[in-house]
Amino acid sequence: MPDIVPLPPGSTIGILGGGQLGRMLALAAARLGLRSHVCDPDPGAPARQVTSLSTIADWGDASALAVFARSVDVVTYEFENVPAAVIDAIEPHAPVRPGRRALAVSQDRLAEKDFLSGLGLATAPYVPVEDPVSLAAAIARTGLPAILKTRRLGYDGKGQVRISDAGAASGALSALAGAPAILEGFVRFDREISVIAARSPDGSFAAYDPGENVHRDGILHTTTLPARIDSAAAAGAVAIARRITDALDYAGVIGVELFVTRSGLVVNEIAPRVHNSGHWTEAACLIDQFEQHIRAVAGWPLGPTDRHSDAVMTNLIGDEVATWPSVNNAALHLYGKAETRPGRKMGHMTRISPRQK
Ligand SMILES: Nc1ncnc2c1ncn2[C@@H]1O[C@H](COP(=O)(O)OP(=O)(O)O)[C@@H](O)[C@H]1O
Ligand SMILES: [Mg+2]
Repeated sequence: MPDIVPLPPGSTIGILGGGQLGRMLALAAARLGLRSHVCDPDPGAPARQVTSLSTIADWGDASALAVFARSVDVVTYEFENVPAAVIDAIEPHAPVRPGRRALAVSQDRLAEKDFLSGLGLATAPYVPVEDPVSLAAAIARTGLPAILKTRRLGYDGKGQVRISDAGAASGALSALAGAPAILEGFVRFDREISVIAARSPDGSFAAYDPGENVHRDGILHTTTLPARIDSAAAAGAVAIARRITDALDYAGVIGVELFVTRSGLVVNEIAPRVHNSGHWTEAACLIDQFEQHIRAVAGWPLGPTDRHSDAVMTNLIGDEVATWPSVNNAALHLYGKAETRPGRKMGHMTRISPRQK
């Protein structure tokens, strides 16, 4: 392993993406005496409210990206859909962490599934789909129900259609408007969990306890700690996160979503960044996922991941944010978004209680 010299306080973290995750990363960096510089095409990106260094640039503007990269000490990102050309523009001038490979495998669901199954990890059965003929063949392999997902750019349940009977197949394909897709067999899970873990450039690793996730309309609704799983499943989930991060020579925080089934853990997807299902760490851990990510990308020692409390994190989606005045026994975090839209993540709250186990 190369020796990574920790970036001293006063150094600047470049953050691609100025949404709520970029904002929370910038706040965490500030607590450590680090500056952050947010780069996003949207002049109104909420992360700009919390840092004075910011660039407005389209992802196709290689020269603006190079200027940004030269002005920072390391570059990280808040979203996995960073185009490879953006990394091409930045990497000659600043290291990018977690890195190119983590982006490549997580921004294409087919590459992601191939990577995971290549590590010997269980995934949903999956088949690439291009057209009605390949869809019919794919259904024959996965069985029904199945879920047709675009390979790229899906999030919060968008870009997915559930196929319950063969008659619905052609409608599902046209709903995705010809985008390259994969068909996944439906996993009958008992619950969904996620592991938020961190790896530093020197290979050290730390994971938070797995949380139990409930989705509503395809969007994360709550994350609850502890998850209702036994200690073997919890250890298995953390071991999976370690395998994945080692294989990617990863630096930073990762979110690994898993299904808990009767026959074991099935990996759903990975996010090479801080993750919505890790927001509870702000309220229930000494070092939250945002500080942990900044520590990892800055080459600092990782912090402890112990959980001092049980926790329930609830997202405030769309109009739910209007309930903020009544949130008085939970840690409230609002993202400073000017406009409330249905399905938009506007904030979250975390309630903690004394740890039971
Ligand atoms: N193969 C599957 N079997 C059962 N449920 C699934 C499957 N794939 C996705 N889901 C459900 O849909 C949710 C969103 O799918 P996911 O692949 O995680 O996409 P997103 O990128 O939108 O989070 C999952 O959290 C899970 O509840
Ligand atoms: Mg997901």
